[in-house]
Amino acid sequence: MSSLVHLAIIMDGNGRWAKKRNLPRAVGHLEGLKSLKKVLVGSINEGIKYLSLYCFSTENWKRPKEEVDYLMALFSNKIYGEIKTYNKLGVQIRFLGKRDGLPQKALDALDRAVEETKSNTALTLQLAINYGGQDEIARAVNKLISEGCKEVTPELIRSKFDNPDIPAADFIVRSAGEERLSNFLLFDSAYSELGFYDKLWPDWDEAMIKTVKEDYLKRERRFGGLL
Ligand code: FPP
Repeated sequence: MSSLVHLAIIMDGNGRWAKKRNLPRAVGHLEGLKSLKKVLVGSINEGIKYLSLYCFSTENWKRPKEEVDYLMALFSNKIYGEIKTYNKLGVQIRFLGKRDGLPQKALDALDRAVEETKSNTALTLQLAINYGGQDEIARAVNKLISEGCKEVTPELIRSKFDNPDIPAADFIVRSAGEERLSNFLLFDSAYSELGFYDKLWPDWDEAMIKTVKEDYLKRERRFGGLL
């Protein structure tokens, strides 16, 4: 039984949570941010070392402008705004995704958060923003091409990812019932365990991470080999 070192979450269901209450979708995202904080604390309590959260995909630009603007404002204002909390908790922030297309304000907030938390060691929080698994692979291959590489290998591609020092996720889970990866961690998910939970993201809390960890510990991982 291997321990849960890296948990990755597709945070889904903010919109449905708001709709059920006749509230604007933006309120669902704000509630989702509260869950993010609870899940972060829960992950530290459970001894998880890496937490990756899918915050905004390369496909999410297709949403109405009002919603995209709201999410960009959250990334611009709430990430750096929580820096004291991250430092108190010992959380190191990492950015995963394509910089092109993101507002400068969001990039500045992310860069400052990364810089000012870089010595923290309790947990590394990888925020996937403007992230797509296909784009991640294409960007890595393009970097290799620009360096004159003539033949790629899986190891070479991975070495050009945004955070190659972060190990592949052990467990990728998704809230709100749908069962797909939606372009998340395509390369690194080769042998990740997958888990799908009906609970909407704004209903997730510390206790849910305990459940997720217990579920993971029941899995038998063979990585293509035999037991
Ligand atoms: C998916 O729910 C959720 C998102 C696209 C946004 C997730 C973002 C957050 C939880 C906020 C993160 C903020 C910071 C500062 C890191 P959905 O809108 O697709 O829900 P639905 O499927 O029910 O419509």
